[in-house]
Amino acid sequence: MVNKKIKTKVYPNSKSGSKIFAKSLVNEINEVLLKKKYCLISIPTGNTPTDLYKELIELYKKKKISFKNILFFNLDEFYPISEDDIQSYNYYLNEKLFNHIDIPKKNINMLNGDINENNINSHCISFEDKIKRLGGLDIQVLGIGQNGHIGFNEPGSLIDSKTRKVNISDLSLSIISNEFNNKNEIPKEALTMGVDTILSSNKIFLLAWGKTKSTIIGKTIKNKITKNIPATYLKNHNDVTFILDKYSSSKI
Ligand code: PGA
Repeated sequence: MVNKKIKTKVYPNSKSGSKIFAKSLVNEINEVLLKKKYCLISIPTGNTPTDLYKELIELYKKKKISFKNILFFNLDEFYPISEDDIQSYNYYLNEKLFNHIDIPKKNINMLNGDINENNINSHCISFEDKIKRLGGLDIQVLGIGQNGHIGFNEPGSLIDSKTRKVNISDLSLSIISNEFNNKNEIPKEALTMGVDTILSSNKIFLLAWGKTKSTIIGKTIKNKITKNIPATYLKNHNDVTFILDKYSSSKI
């Protein structure tokens, strides 16, 4: 493993960072679409990208981008969960992004948290195969957990991990539980793209806002690659940019 430099961009706050990043993401997508018919992209869920979604919708309304030739692959989903459960990432993405832009339904590739246990393996393999068959992800956007998880690749995940079912760590569960009304309903497992799937993307952006992320951002940037902080695996990639605000960047 080689430690490559992670680029960082620091903005005054999450609002300004999301606005500027949305514009550069649109430029990146449009550049890809000049070269090939489709742009394969993956964007995270959670609290971090909500302003990014709003800005993307605004840019779409201003005709700066069309999503017709975007192929979307989702990063993770709780398991088990039904796609119309308001706590599912499927529901979340529809509500916050897809219902407001011109992406065709057939271009949206979601991990299915409602799938029968026996079919999980083949579901994950066909998800991976589809990305490969279409030439690989062009752009991967990530958030980061306070324990350094990317997607639901929790500490201990391996660099060559593929899309699979995982246990959600206790720390992640306790953070997520604040977002769920009924703590008993928190799924303890998830389907997630693997570290290898993420690293195979052409370009990677990781967004982190606020001081609750400052310690893990500091550790990720300063530590050697370690399975205890899955985000450090990003140092193995040639083109990674961390998009931060002045709070999340305070320990780099
Ligand atoms: P958050 O989650 O955006 O809700 O902070 C990020 C993550 O856990 O990857």
